Amino acid sequence: MTNQNTRNVPATTGGGFELAPASKSLFIKTFGCQMNVYDSERISELLVPLGYTIKDALENVDMAVLNTCHIREKASEKLFSELGRLRAHKRRRSAIGKQMIIAVAGCVAQAIGEEIARRVPEVDIVVGPQTYHRLPELISRIESTSGDTQICTEFPVNPKFDELPVERKGGSVSAFLSVQEGCDKFCTFCVVPYTRGAEYSRPVDDLVTEAKLLVECGVKEITLLGQNVNAYHGQHLGKQVSSLSVLIERLAALKGLSRLRYTTSHPKDMDLSLIDAHGRIPELMPSVHLPVQSGSDRILEAMNRRYTVADYLGVVDKLRTARPDIALSSDFIVGFPGETEEDFRQTMNLVKTVGYAQAYSFKYSPRPGTPAAAGEIQIEDEIKWERLQVLQNLLVEQQSKFNQSLVGAATEILIEKPGRYPGQLVGRTPYLQPVHVAAKSDNQELNIGDIIQVNITGSSSNSLMGTLGGDYIND
Ligand code: SAH
Ligand code: SF4
Ligand code: F3S
Repeated sequence: MTNQNTRNVPATTGGGFELAPASKSLFIKTFGCQMNVYDSERISELLVPLGYTIKDALENVDMAVLNTCHIREKASEKLFSELGRLRAHKRRRSAIGKQMIIAVAGCVAQAIGEEIARRVPEVDIVVGPQTYHRLPELISRIESTSGDTQICTEFPVNPKFDELPVERKGGSVSAFLSVQEGCDKFCTFCVVPYTRGAEYSRPVDDLVTEAKLLVECGVKEITLLGQNVNAYHGQHLGKQVSSLSVLIERLAALKGLSRLRYTTSHPKDMDLSLIDAHGRIPELMPSVHLPVQSGSDRILEAMNRRYTVADYLGVVDKLRTARPDIALSSDFIVGFPGETEEDFRQTMNLVKTVGYAQAYSFKYSPRPGTPAAAGEIQIEDEIKWERLQVLQNLLVEQQSKFNQSLVGAATEILIEKPGRYPGQLVGRTPYLQPVHVAAKSDNQELNIGDIIQVNITGSSSNSLMGTLGGDYIND
């Protein structure tokens, strides 16, 4: 259904649209997963050449983009409260004769674009995760032709990556690189296949080119992203690659790139070549995010996860054989429709069996249009809360224990930023834990982007403390 005040923009025309450069300000707020972080970076790279300067606050900006997430009810609700704030800003600017463009991007935009335009007519542009490359053209329409909301959410024929600027900005020593988009798995609780569309893998050569550009900007660590990153099967030498490991191998050979990671992997797509890559590619960091969701085969089947607990444990074993020091993290959902106390007990058992270095856990949130939302036995919120707390207590305990196990050991960190106190630096271990290091040094100049040896002296559930190792002088 098309609202009278909206205009659906066909998804057939490509990018390459030119707007006259102007001096304007842009605020982008990002919700959700790392893929949205990557998309927001690309949106800013798309709009800066048009004269927009990125601001980190909403006050007095000419344009605001909300890059939204639809994964759980709470995440989606945030959009409408943010839009309330934006609408007030827009009205204030309008009162002094100034324009403010409001754009909603991301997964909520994709899922309920028409509703957004109907409920908040002040929204000028709605673009989905696969159509934001059209923003320059849509901005031009808003500026020159009409006040109708421009909605552009049809999945395009050509991938957005073909239309985005080739140049990359980098910006920090650690960067995200989307290598795979969308999902064909259709887990019964999940909106991603509907909001991001069908699986698509970018060609290897395009990714090597983008990674090289990032490295030239000072990037030392790249995290390869995909909703199902290990289902990657991009084109290489005229054929589809058979494993993400092929891409990892190519990228690991890039001079100046020290660390590679990938997320999020599906247990079913964890092929032997990728597992083996952990044993033979030193640049591939020894940590894997491998969401299991539940420890009950019955619930895994109802979720359409396509593996059993035994399959999952088999993958964990193989990973630990290939790389004995590998650390695992995971996602869990409690209170999936029909989950019994016994199912939950099996999840707790699985956590105890595997031992996680880190994990995210959520209450099941019914998502409109997904099969599980229509599940007959929805679990009461109180029970979901209780189970979540019990699970999180165990996961925090395991995380603290893992962090504690590194105390007294030497490890390498990639320096990411200055710490809160003078002379302090913050870097990350191969396992991604932040380490605060007192880095005052008489004989060595340390820089952001350096990989240095530190001795771990203390830990909490979320971070570590360290002192300089090797020749560095401790404070
Ligand atoms: N592709 C990844 C997950 C991406 S979504 C995978 O298959 O594992 C990130 C996480 O959000 C999921 O792992 C899941 O734990 C959580 N999640 C997704 N949909 C949810 C829902 N409806 N309710 C609660 N948590 C959900
Ligand atoms: Fe969602 Fe992940 Fe399942 Fe795909 S594999 S449907 S992204 S939970
Ligand atoms: Fe959210 Fe979309 Fe990512 S729903 S988790 S922003 S893929």
